[in-house]
Amino acid sequence: MTSLLAALSRTVGSAFAAEGLSETFGQVQVSDRPDLAQFQCNGALAAAKYLNGRPADGGPAGAKTNPRAIAEKVAARLKADPVFAQVDIAGPGFINLSLSDAALNGHVQALAEDPRLGAPQTGLDADGAGRIAVIDFGGPNIAKPMHVGHLRSSIIGDCLQRLYRANGWRVVSDVHMGDWGLQMGQLISQIEIEGIAPVYFDPGHEGPYPDESPVSMDDLEVLYPRASAACKADPERLEAARRATVDLQAGRPGYRALWKHFVRVTEVGLTREFASLGVKFDLWNGESSVDAAIPPMLDDLKKRGLAEMSEGALVVPVAEESDKRPLPPLILVKSEGGVLYGTTDLATIIERVREFDPQQILYVVDHRQHGHFEQVFRAAIKAGYQGRAELEHVGYGTMNGADGKPFKTRAGGVMKLHDLIGMATGEAARRLAEQGIGADYSDAERAEIARKVGIATIKFADLSHQRTTDYIFDLERFSTFEGKTGPYLQYAAVRIQSILRKAADLGAKPGTPAIHSPEERRLILQLLGVGDVMTAAEAGRAPHILCEYAFELAQNFSRFYGAHHILSEPDEGLRAARLGLCALVLAVMTRTLDLLGIEVPERM
Ligand code: ARG
Repeated sequence: MTSLLAALSRTVGSAFAAEGLSETFGQVQVSDRPDLAQFQCNGALAAAKYLNGRPADGGPAGAKTNPRAIAEKVAARLKADPVFAQVDIAGPGFINLSLSDAALNGHVQALAEDPRLGAPQTGLDADGAGRIAVIDFGGPNIAKPMHVGHLRSSIIGDCLQRLYRANGWRVVSDVHMGDWGLQMGQLISQIEIEGIAPVYFDPGHEGPYPDESPVSMDDLEVLYPRASAACKADPERLEAARRATVDLQAGRPGYRALWKHFVRVTEVGLTREFASLGVKFDLWNGESSVDAAIPPMLDDLKKRGLAEMSEGALVVPVAEESDKRPLPPLILVKSEGGVLYGTTDLATIIERVREFDPQQILYVVDHRQHGHFEQVFRAAIKAGYQGRAELEHVGYGTMNGADGKPFKTRAGGVMKLHDLIGMATGEAARRLAEQGIGADYSDAERAEIARKVGIATIKFADLSHQRTTDYIFDLERFSTFEGKTGPYLQYAAVRIQSILRKAADLGAKPGTPAIHSPEERRLILQLLGVGDVMTAAEAGRAPHILCEYAFELAQNFSRFYGAHHILSEPDEGLRAARLGLCALVLAVMTRTLDLLGIEVPERM
């Protein structure tokens, strides 16, 4: 279905066209002053500006067109249309519009019957086929536990993949693990130095390597920081790590076998972590997945003169005349022969274009990597590797602790995602108990509710902040059942579920929603905006727009619920309409929360 704003813009656009003006001036928006009108159109001002600014009319002053005069002509046409209950002009020429209840009722009925529940079709191309987006997010690193930096990428990326799919896109999500860089060589050399598994380093070894990993995830978590500290302190030690990286990439069998163990051991933990977050990926690729594509890419870049040697390294210069700050070249191969993060990212573009031919590739990665993506994108475009894809770095700010520094454990260590989820779930359980919620449920159900509420606490806190800003993670504030929080919205949805359950027990059926009071009008107007909100959230890659919407919907529902009888309404028709409205609010609320990756418990 077309959104209400789109339908209104078309109507008002025709009125402009009938006055000989472009129908694009008919763009309608939600009113800035809901006390005066539901909608407004500012096109008369733009139209006057356009007419007065035309070179042909650039003559003497006095011949100027007054925006109010245009607004009056357009308004006169709109007044004849029965969908409008109110058309008037404010200030210099704003057209204020309100719809008749009958018109709104018609729209809300269409929404209730729409199988897509008002979702826009921004992902469809002209032939009605879904456009393709690759979304690269998560990005955990092998041999390191996921920390809160990866949390933001996972939560925001997952919200975008859900939203894109709801809007009609075909999405390919890729976790793109960090599994091919220097940190792998640091680990391998550390294991050699500590003599942990000599067989992988024995040049005389023949036959297969052991199936069982010589190191556990716990071992890796100790070994990696040790290796990295040693490399920082000692240039020779770093050199050994570099050599190990080059040998790994060149295919030395013992190193590859060891590396596979690292990957497998880490993946067990990652799978658990992503499952508890409710985040799924289509592809579990990593930097190493494009290993075979790198040599032909390097040949191609060299042959076409796009890559050149600079200080012993192979680089692609990407600086442009207009750069305010100098952008260093993208380094493809270092002097000792190892490939880098940018090399794998560039080759990954080639592979994604070859496999999926996407229209968009989004990278949901910390905004501090902006320079890296700028280099990679420029190199890709220079070489024409991007196909028809738009490349976009969807950056985000840092999740900080109360001290304004990146979120840490109490002891000052890196906060692991697993522990953060544990903390949030524990806090949810405590609050639920405090409110006496679920006292008579089974332990298993109570634990499941706490899990859902804990995850909702973290996700809503993260998504409700404007993506690019840093924010302070305040568990106390984000876990309350009052205010703009995940738990509050879950609670609001559960309350509606319980009304509908009681109604079903009483044999009362939900009917078609319709306006009988100001509270219902307001709620219905908000419901009718859902498609535009999903469009705006997609366009800005802006989950916080969905969060705002869900919060406002809960508040508008609360006002409606506080002002009217529902189950106890004696008039059967009115009761049915109100139950129908409850059902529609629940459907839109549940879908919006689902886009945020938040599950609604059956009861709480
Ligand atoms: N592994 C990287 C990190 O931890 C993030 C990967 C992001 N994706 C990409 N294609 N570069 O910073």
